[in-house]
Amino acid sequence: MSDQVNDKMCDKVRNQEKGNNIVLIGFMGTGKTSLGKAAARKLKIPFLDTDDLIVKKEGMTINEIFATKGEAYFRSLETQIIKELQELEGGHVIAAGGGLPLREENRPLLKKLGQVIYIRTSPQILAERLESDTKRPVLKQGDGTILEKVERILGEREPKYVDAADIIIENDGRSFFNTAKKLINIYRKGGEYNDQS
Ligand code: S3P
Repeated sequence: MSDQVNDKMCDKVRNQEKGNNIVLIGFMGTGKTSLGKAAARKLKIPFLDTDDLIVKKEGMTINEIFATKGEAYFRSLETQIIKELQELEGGHVIAAGGGLPLREENRPLLKKLGQVIYIRTSPQILAERLESDTKRPVLKQGDGTILEKVERILGEREPKYVDAADIIIENDGRSFFNTAKKLINIYRKGGEYNDQS
């Protein structure tokens, strides 16, 4: 058997273990929540956001969790949530918090949930969107302009996002509907993606 055929078969086996969900990952401000909501509405399936699930569970905002219990505690909650989501049945669109794919143990758990789609956006666009944000404690840490922070943090995270992803979609400022359409098509085709969709 050629390596290529073998690889395809391995993919098939791997995909059979996947849930029937689409999971959006990527940096803060990349549009996971708004894109995910738009796609879920069109597909008539539920939308879930790991940050919302954590906020509900704790009865506190993300800022309050970071301030009173610390980031490490928040990261453990993310792992707990992604484990709980393994019990989900049926199709969902799930938006994962921007830092969730960073923990190594979370990445196979994301993949098991379904097709993991990395929504990639340039640091310039992200910095514009995040300029006056007050809800993301990670951006309050460290020195520098918002663009410098985004470039630095995204630089560190990019290899992990790529490692976690099955599919990468570029989403610049003007392509919201196009990107939402791609997500809808991926779901409808059972996780298949070609760049033309
Ligand atoms: C974080 C991203 C946030 C939220 C928390 C930490 C991060 O989610 O989970 O503030 O480390 O990137 P969004 O990506 O939905 O903003």
